[in-house]
Amino acid sequence: MTDSIFIHSWAPDYVLADLRARYDVDYYNFFRNGAMPPEELARRIAGKAGVMTIQTAIPGAVIAANAGTLKAIASVSVGVDDIDVAAATAAGVLVTNTAGILDDAVADFAIAALLAVGRRIVESDRYTRAGKFAGPSFPLFWGARVRGETVGIIGLGRIGRAAARRARGFGLKIVYHNRNPVAPEIEAGLGARYLPLKELLAASRYVLLHLPLTPETTHLINAERLALMRKDAYLLNISRGPVVHEDALVEALRAGAIAGAALDVHEFEPNVHPALREMENVVLTSHIASADVETRHAMARLAARNLKAALAGETPPNPVNRVA
Ligand code: DGY
Repeated sequence: MTDSIFIHSWAPDYVLADLRARYDVDYYNFFRNGAMPPEELARRIAGKAGVMTIQTAIPGAVIAANAGTLKAIASVSVGVDDIDVAAATAAGVLVTNTAGILDDAVADFAIAALLAVGRRIVESDRYTRAGKFAGPSFPLFWGARVRGETVGIIGLGRIGRAAARRARGFGLKIVYHNRNPVAPEIEAGLGARYLPLKELLAASRYVLLHLPLTPETTHLINAERLALMRKDAYLLNISRGPVVHEDALVEALRAGAIAGAALDVHEFEPNVHPALREMENVVLTSHIASADVETRHAMARLAARNLKAALAGETPPNPVNRVA
């Protein structure tokens, strides 16, 4: 019998055609139509062998209710914090992600965010569009130096390392913090030095977050840690919104305790903190760090490969959990 799958994401035509040739496909174009109500999501997952999804909560109860039928959930993302992976493991459902394929895109974006906020590019864009530019003027939009400054990367996984390689090209000194220091040869290759978190925060002009969202990383950047940062420092969150306690960030920015922030992700997406929206020294983007055309296509292709392998009983390229 042909397996049924539910695609709750975006898939290019050629990926859809390939999947339709193999399975009964229920396709919901998430990007065109937006999130669907949780009850409808649960209804459409029911009875499916596979789900391809992105940026949508797949609760444990929905997974448990489909134990026995559901075999795989392929996320079109590296982060799988939306999916109850423990419940999936308990229900024998394989979860996969797209780790690896988007490292360069996200690292490119991290450096773009660093430059955008540090060199005040977005502020200057707003000023110019508003017709305020009256000719070159020496005091206009002095920003932060890049070359010779220190970037502190919290989370030196694949994406953090890709960001470190780029940062090195800009002449930044690199310090990092991880649960465990990486191997000496990796440190040497990146020119990166391990620091305890407190020391990293105190040393860095740019603090770059590249962490998965877990109970340990939730509100990792809170009032206490923001207070350790330099007054001329910038916080860059390119990971998951709840890693930063945004109320605390607002207070730190209001008090001038740090110089600015660039946030691609937000604590309560899709809501953006109203106070941050009013701040000139904050760059806000819409969870787009991996969004270059080629990478988005590659993510969809990889998610489909993961799904096909899992449904065929093979080990997919990017398993997140192990099931019996
Ligand atoms: C990811 O891959 O996790 C990105 O944040 C897209 O959701």
